[in-house]
Amino acid sequence: MKKDLLKMADLSASEIYEILDLAAKLKYETRHGIKHHILEGQSLGMIFQKSSTRTRVSFETGIYQLGGQALFLSPRDLQIGRGEPLEDTARVLSRYLSGIMIRTFAQQEVEDLAKYCSIPIINGLTDYCHPCQILADLLTIREFKGGFDGLKMCYIGDGNNMANSLIVGGLTVGMGVAIACPNAYQPDPQVLAFAEKYPGKFLMTEDVHEAAAGADVLFTDVWASMGQEEEAAERRKVFTGYQINQSVLDVAHKDVMVQHCLPAHRGEEITADVFEAHANEIFEEAENRLHAQKAVMVKLMAK
Ligand code: CP
Ligand code: NVA
Repeated sequence: MKKDLLKMADLSASEIYEILDLAAKLKYETRHGIKHHILEGQSLGMIFQKSSTRTRVSFETGIYQLGGQALFLSPRDLQIGRGEPLEDTARVLSRYLSGIMIRTFAQQEVEDLAKYCSIPIINGLTDYCHPCQILADLLTIREFKGGFDGLKMCYIGDGNNMANSLIVGGLTVGMGVAIACPNAYQPDPQVLAFAEKYPGKFLMTEDVHEAAAGADVLFTDVWASMGQEEEAAERRKVFTGYQINQSVLDVAHKDVMVQHCLPAHRGEEITADVFEAHANEIFEEAENRLHAQKAVMVKLMAK
């Protein structure tokens, strides 16, 4: 395993399976009251440049359940907000903390932090990717479907951080991946280059029903991500139709599961009735953030 988790492509298939196996074990044991002390005495710094409900609470709770503690580091309060260079902040924090989780805009900022820190860096979402979310998604798919072989994942909507990470994660574990997105909102070129290495396993189209045909898992995400608030009205027009609704379920596999990283906008990327009909899978996915990230912290931080 590399020192950091900066993007899905940092993980091989066998490393993903190791994380999922450990996550499943920790989930089972925690639910059965078994206490863990694996990260006793360790501190995780959490830097958030964007809002969060799931990521913040699951990391904070997760490290506590492993015997460690979390520190919420607001960039507004850190000297970094007043111009202290990242490379100095990184070298100082490396001397206090055992790991850092960071949520920010530019992927380069996370890569730079990892370069200057001697401790593990975990990407808690950038504009480019959301690896912790995809590990939770894969854990949920495996729980509901028993594995990945022969399964097709379909993502409908913006070619954003979620789409980028789902493509890499899904293809790495052997799933077929289909993306339906408007031409001007395709996933990142680096990710499309990655997908070229999986001929016959990857489809990108503007046609929602073509992408969803026979799908075992349907994903979507918000039409306007954090930082794109000013584009929201324009995006509502462009993305109309890029929605998980009954007509999409009708062409998918009859036992299709629906996933959403949340927060969800009912009536935009997903209808309220489909969301509620699949709430069980969607909230298990949200819970699995906790278990997947505990596994990541153990893998990267345990001495
Ligand atoms: N899915 C997700 O990352 O949620 P938060 O933005 O609430 O952390
Ligand atoms: N694409 C969304 C995901 C939120 C978890 C965003 O970046 O805002």
